[in-house]
Amino acid sequence: MTDRHAVPLDPAAMRKQYRAEGLAESDLAATPVAQFAHWFAQAATEAHLFEPNAMVVSTADAQGRPSSRTVLLKGFDEQGFVFYTNYGSRKARDLAENPNVSLLFPWHPMARQVIVGGVARRTGRDETAAYFRTRPHGSQLGAWASTQSSVVASRTELDASYAELEARYPEGEQVPVPPHWGGFRVAPRTVEFWQGRENRLHDRLRYVAEADGSWRVERLSP
Ligand SMILES: Cc1cc2nc3c(=O)[nH]c(=O)nc-3n(C[C@H](O)[C@H](O)[C@H](O)COP(=O)(O)O)c2cc1C
Repeated sequence: MTDRHAVPLDPAAMRKQYRAEGLAESDLAATPVAQFAHWFAQAATEAHLFEPNAMVVSTADAQGRPSSRTVLLKGFDEQGFVFYTNYGSRKARDLAENPNVSLLFPWHPMARQVIVGGVARRTGRDETAAYFRTRPHGSQLGAWASTQSSVVASRTELDASYAELEARYPEGEQVPVPPHWGGFRVAPRTVEFWQGRENRLHDRLRYVAEADGSWRVERLSP
């Protein structure tokens, strides 16, 4: 064992002064999706964040017990935010019981976060199949090999299941879309844009969906 863990790191002493550049109501796009597109482009092309499409997806089961995990955003437009997963996974089972979901984009190096609250629905099979075809061969096999979120006896068992699939569908051979795998589209109801500011006086602007389909913007106290 090395002593690489010996340096005391006290999280209470970690304090960053966030940037002064703020977010004003007049800066905002007409819809939260358009505003998201703007910040997402800045995260990717100006701040060069590693995987800016990585988001924390929080679900709750029928009893209200929450759980969170990181998932990659694979598409977004005015209809919502799309990710792909195993329909037998814990998150998917939660969403079948309770479609309310929260998505959080933690863009820490820019002192920004975006938090989406909404309702998740499965994407259509055609849309799922179209995306599945764009995945690398190995990821396609991985989607078949894993019964996500279930207990697996050993790593050996997982590797053996992948090897079997690899023998059945060698590189170049078309892999069918697993019936237990697909997308969710999260239709936003609220989207908060958080910009860190000096002295903890952060900007928090939240779009809220109105019954007529328009958006209201409100400022939240930091
Ligand atoms: C950076 C990153 C990206 C991930 N992307 C996905 C994804 O797109 N889809 C997915 O099902 N799991 C993804 N995972 C794995 C999930 O975090 C999680 O382990 C898995 O989906 C099972 O979650 P559940 O048991 O809560 O349903 C990702 C993990 C990380 C760290």
